[in-house]
Amino acid sequence: MSLKGRHLIDPNDFSLSELDEIFDLADRMADDRDSFGNICNGKILGTLFYEPSTRTRLSFESAMLRMGGKVLGFSDASTSSVSKGESIADTIRVLSSYADVVVMRHPKEGAPKLASEYSLIPVINGGDGGHQHPTQTLTDLLTIRRYRGTLENQTIAFCGDLKFGRTVHSLISAMSRYKGSKFVLISPAELRLPGHLKSSLLEKHNVGIYETENLEEVINQVNVLYMTRIQKERFFNEADYMRLKDSYILSRSKLKDSREDMLVMHPLPRVNEISYDVDDDKRAVYFKQAEFGIYVRMALMALLLGVNVNVNRK
Ligand code: NCD
Repeated sequence: MSLKGRHLIDPNDFSLSELDEIFDLADRMADDRDSFGNICNGKILGTLFYEPSTRTRLSFESAMLRMGGKVLGFSDASTSSVSKGESIADTIRVLSSYADVVVMRHPKEGAPKLASEYSLIPVINGGDGGHQHPTQTLTDLLTIRRYRGTLENQTIAFCGDLKFGRTVHSLISAMSRYKGSKFVLISPAELRLPGHLKSSLLEKHNVGIYETENLEEVINQVNVLYMTRIQKERFFNEADYMRLKDSYILSRSKLKDSREDMLVMHPLPRVNEISYDVDDDKRAVYFKQAEFGIYVRMALMALLLGVNVNVNRK
């Protein structure tokens, strides 16, 4: 099945070979960005951001502009008709005639899925509550694939807020489809990965899991260390956040005996969880990861729009 006209709500909406098609194109775009500068001429991306974002919104905008397309939308729902009580269904129906593809971020889990049911154009989930963040996951998968050459047989440690972190939920669910994946889950007891994710995804795919509260205990045994921010905005009270916010701080000295080729990843924004002295370590790839987010979003939108991507090909 072609990716043209499809929605991306959950990373598992696409088969592994469809994901490879996106990553292969993203690799070509990363190596030769200028050749793709006009492939979306005349196309418009709509951005519906009902929740704050820097990277996701700007990387989508940049991706569309770099392919010669245009962008319209809002980044503050209080300035749109949503504040007058308009439903998501009506907003998306109208936007379907204003744009050719839309990205939506919403605090409510399931909002982009609902939008996709009423939309006449492809809907991309730009993050829904604590649920999913599929384009961050595509970025993360592309990063691992570029550094490792494969997505199979990876032992990934997730560290921080595994309860509310949607990037973690999305990436775990996507990685559990690859052969040989093993997960090490590092969090305070209150911020453990939700049980339903553990049972429905991990048992189904028979993936090895090890849970611990201690980063130092496991840091030397993993291929990828995926650090995350404690998700302040999803806490019910400030006191709990204050108590947990600095649970893990990765510093250069903690990396001392970790594998030379381990990847330290982070979806960003970081708060305190990675000290600045880690930034120059060769294992730190989080800024490259953010850059790869542009190429993966370019590739994704080009394929959903069905534009001609055969530039420079005989
Ligand atoms: C993440 C998010 O919004 O979930 N940010 C992002 O899109 N790169 C991670 C976070 O906010 O902690």
